[in-house]
Amino acid sequence: MPLAYDARMQAESLRLVGQDAQVPLVTGETVRYVNLDYAASTPPLQVVADAVAEFLPWYSSVHRGAGYKSRAATAAYEGARESVRAFVNARDDDTIVFTRNTTDAINLMATALPETTRIIGFAGEHHANLLPWKRCAATFLPVAASPADLLECLEEALADNQADATLVAITGASNVTGELMPIVEVVALAHRYGARVLLDAAQLAPHAPIDMQAVGIDYLAMSGHKLYAPYGAGVLIGRADWLTGGEPFLRGGGAVKLVTVDEVVWAEMPDRQEAGSPNVVGAVAMGVACDALRSAGMQRLADDEHELWSYARDRFATVPGWEHYRIWPVEHPRVGLFTFNLAGYGYDQVAAILSAEYGIGVRHGCFCAHPLMIELLHVERGEADSLIDATKRGEHPRLPGAARMSFGLGTTREDVDRAADALASIAEHGPRWRYQCSTISGDCEPDPDPRPLPELPLRYATPGRGSEAS
Ligand SMILES: Cc1ncc(COP(=O)(O)O)c(C=O)c1O
Repeated sequence: MPLAYDARMQAESLRLVGQDAQVPLVTGETVRYVNLDYAASTPPLQVVADAVAEFLPWYSSVHRGAGYKSRAATAAYEGARESVRAFVNARDDDTIVFTRNTTDAINLMATALPETTRIIGFAGEHHANLLPWKRCAATFLPVAASPADLLECLEEALADNQADATLVAITGASNVTGELMPIVEVVALAHRYGARVLLDAAQLAPHAPIDMQAVGIDYLAMSGHKLYAPYGAGVLIGRADWLTGGEPFLRGGGAVKLVTVDEVVWAEMPDRQEAGSPNVVGAVAMGVACDALRSAGMQRLADDEHELWSYARDRFATVPGWEHYRIWPVEHPRVGLFTFNLAGYGYDQVAAILSAEYGIGVRHGCFCAHPLMIELLHVERGEADSLIDATKRGEHPRLPGAARMSFGLGTTREDVDRAADALASIAEHGPRWRYQCSTISGDCEPDPDPRPLPELPLRYATPGRGSEAS
């Protein structure tokens, strides 16, 4: 059936670059790539890539250039702030600081806070919303058995707290389970005790509408590369006063009004927190993505994704040996994401087989959320301690972990069927290729791996054994 005009226009505006990419399998065939790794990073929307290509001839320095191109680039950069503001319905007087990503935004926040601020955080969060707070006076609440338990624990911590300024730092959606945190209630509770709330929206923003004004969210951090604009920009949005109290996160050109050898007068927001030449292309790309998603309607996208998630839950539940990790009951609202293990297989082996034999891309490991994974996988204290000791000795112990499939724009029932059929086939018949643990990456890899990398006008190198990425 042909699509209605509106729907066709909308489908066009939400088309992704590389959506129909064909990839080689170890067995010699070529198949359409099934991307189930949106939670780590998303491809760009085609409209974003097109806008960037159109903008590049006009790219120039921003803010202090009188040239025509500088004026155009500055207007585009500042316009991007307004697109971001509209996307999350931030207040007119909220400051919008472009950063590299969510990690950068939260680190900025952690250094800029009034010195006496107390942080109330949550142990089950992504490291980006955990580690920056360790430089502050912080309390981390344990992984809660239920949303009600989370609110009860939070209220106890707030009631106990004597600090002049308090910030509750919470994620919108868990990157490990997809579960939505009870943000409306958290904000109401925090405000009742005079605290402010920072929302780590890295995983929520691409999947659901966010209304900073209606909910009263004080600060919000998110990443362009998870929002269909992978050009290296992120953003911190929120109340300007706490970001202007101390010294800027980065010191350098652009962040000042006047400098002498002895004195510096820092600029107003947002310049004060945007020292150095900004990522103009990244910001512009993020602005275009925000506009495209907003006009598509985030609630409609969230509803569609929920329907797909329910379909997928039923399909995956039939896979023999399927183990799905959750903090809360399956009915709890969530974004389209499944973290799982398949009985009898290592998580890295499952990921390697899905890629090598089925052309399906998933993520595996601990998802930069080690404390939560320790809980979900029931890792005993003693085992966790010996892993820490071995790691400190410079060894590379195999960490417990899982695989994760995550959905985004462009994920279809056909993709879910491909994944469910592949997992069922692995569970029932095993792999059709040999795999071994790579001495270089430490990961499970096909042996041999005959798949050539795509021919591109750039240089390839093999990564070493690095740290875990999200
Ligand atoms: C919930 C959450 N917060 C923060 C981050 C960090 O985002 P980035 O790597 O873009 O800084 C991630 C990345 O996966 C995430 O999932």
